[in-house]
Amino acid sequence: AALAGCGSSDKLIMGTNAAFPPFEYTTSQGLVGEFDGIDVAIANKIAENVGKELQIEDMEFDGLVASVSTGKVDMVVAGMTATDERKQSVDFSDPYYVASQVIVVAPDNTDITSAEDLKNDKTVGVVLGYTGDNIVTNDLQLAEDKVTRANRGIDIVQDVKNGKLDAVVIDSATGKALAEKNGLKIVEDPQAFETEEYAIAVKKGNTELLDKINETLSEMKASGEIEQLAMEYDEK
Ligand code: ARG
Repeated sequence: AALAGCGSSDKLIMGTNAAFPPFEYTTSQGLVGEFDGIDVAIANKIAENVGKELQIEDMEFDGLVASVSTGKVDMVVAGMTATDERKQSVDFSDPYYVASQVIVVAPDNTDITSAEDLKNDKTVGVVLGYTGDNIVTNDLQLAEDKVTRANRGIDIVQDVKNGKLDAVVIDSATGKALAEKNGLKIVEDPQAFETEEYAIAVKKGNTELLDKINETLSEMKASGEIEQLAMEYDEK
């Protein structure tokens, strides 16, 4: 078995939470083992650039920052928004994707057309520890008994489908992917939801890896590869 956690091995270890299509998800024939997605493709390029084999550790989203700051994984590639709070614990690469939050509702829902409407006694699902959780809890300040926190977006989106929840607040690309798969609809509210930048996290002070990551990202941006990946995986 590979030496998991050994930064100096021939493996580059990526920590992620593979329940976030189109950035990372599991499939029977993925790019790396059973893993596929935009982030997996980017991480593969980074591994190539540092001359190592990519190894993926799938874990709860909530534990990712700790796992890279303690050196259990070399980098977190997880559609992770570079927030000020997280910047206290890890170093982030240059951003590689701009997202925002969206609201997922039933196709026939007419009373939720903005984030403000969620305050009207609506039951709202978020994923524990995602930026959407933070926004619903701290910015919108929804009543605690109206908020359901799940471990995976797919679970709460199912709850919108079966009528247990009125809405889910989640990242745009993932919200769109999950809504499409489940016959649900998306409500956007750019005024309430600021843009978020996804970036790759490394252990504080790991400039050697961070430089390689930024080099790979800038090459992939310049060649249009990232944009292409976003389009390609959007259609999957
Ligand atoms: N962008 C959001 C955040 O940083 C959600 C990321 C979820 N990523 C995942 N791989 N599950 O909080």
